[in-house]
Amino acid sequence: MSSNATTPSFPKVTFIKPYWGIKEFFGGTFYRDVGDNNSIEILTKKFRNKLNIKGTIIPTSSGRTAFELALRVLKNKYPERNKVVIPTYGCKGTFDPIIKTGLTPVLVDVGKDLNITPSTAKDYLTTEVLAVLVPHLSGCKAEIENLAKMAKEKNIIIIEDVCQALGGRNSTGFWGTQYDMAIFSFGMGKNLMATAGGFLVSNVFEKEIPDEAKNLGDENTDTVKKRFENVVSKYFLKKDIEFETRNIMSSYKYNKMHPLDAKLLLIQINRLENILQKRRSNAEKIIKELKKTGLKFNLQEDMNNVYTKLSLIFEDANECSELKSCFHKMGIEPEEMYAPLHLSNAGLKSSCPYSEKVYKNVFNIPIRPNLKNKELNMILKAILNVKGSNGLKPSSKQTGGQARLHKIFTRLKRKTKKKKH
Ligand SMILES: Cc1ncc(COP(=O)(O)O)c(C=O)c1O
Repeated sequence: MSSNATTPSFPKVTFIKPYWGIKEFFGGTFYRDVGDNNSIEILTKKFRNKLNIKGTIIPTSSGRTAFELALRVLKNKYPERNKVVIPTYGCKGTFDPIIKTGLTPVLVDVGKDLNITPSTAKDYLTTEVLAVLVPHLSGCKAEIENLAKMAKEKNIIIIEDVCQALGGRNSTGFWGTQYDMAIFSFGMGKNLMATAGGFLVSNVFEKEIPDEAKNLGDENTDTVKKRFENVVSKYFLKKDIEFETRNIMSSYKYNKMHPLDAKLLLIQINRLENILQKRRSNAEKIIKELKKTGLKFNLQEDMNNVYTKLSLIFEDANECSELKSCFHKMGIEPEEMYAPLHLSNAGLKSSCPYSEKVYKNVFNIPIRPNLKNKELNMILKAILNVKGSNGLKPSSKQTGGQARLHKIFTRLKRKTKKKKH
């Protein structure tokens, strides 16, 4: 059936494009329920070995499902506690499972790195709190060590949200392996991408978690195949996806991981290091160019950042929109970040001054591992345009050499303009 939606114009450089090759295309296209159904088991084993996971692993149909599973178990264990602390600056995926489980979200502010911190959370960690969710947003590690200490004193469970930080590690091991529980996601834009999928990792309740996991349903293969076709249409063929099936891309149900998704992940899992290395290299090249512009922005500081996203936090709204419009003009798609959840959910008033101050001035630049050289150069050129064409003054932080270059560049532009006249 043909789509009745208008055809959108696709950017030349899309923010998301799955890092899929011929194996994923064949794997998805020729997937059959018979013969392919042990992929979940093999993937889970590989994942355990790769991240050195000691606890329970439950493969789920999404990160949200993994979170819901954790909350269902915790709600049963601690019926007297009904609150779940999450950062207000985050995606709806961290909010919806709390509502679905009949619990109450408590939305707290974030720090300069856009992550929940011990000081933004401390006043909210009361005896009514069941769990605190700690996302490492965009791939930048949150201060989870101290949050975990504070939570432990009040018998609150820590759930590490590694959905945007798969592969991150420090001297003590991989993120998502060391605290009470962790959720992972394999949806669009993540470091490993299937059509959807997730894992719950738990170092607690080793009996209760698998028991609750028995309630997970099975996703219909036709639905997953349709989702696979939609991903190929949208991100590779740049075609609009059918209006009727659009919601299967974003809806979430309480299901197990589907073997087709596990199969796609199995193909990619050995490339994880390569994916991370390319993301880092792209991010570093872009940051280097951005630092020459004089634009006033902050980055999420973390030497172990895995750059699932390169998020820029601007001090000045005009500079933010100027850079964004330079990208749009060149057909590069930036990604908008979040509106604080307490602003979009009536009745959930919260005092979150930092999130309210910055949220309109944050966006992400594409750094996906399959950016071609030509595409990366377009991004670098768009950045160069902002300093030239928008007449931004060289910042006081610029070196003498940078300021001279800026002057020469502006003079050259003026000369070229005169010649044209
Ligand atoms: C930080 C974070 N947590 C949770 C989720 C939910 O994951 P999923 O979309 O797989 O349900 C996402 C999804 O984008 C996310 O970015």
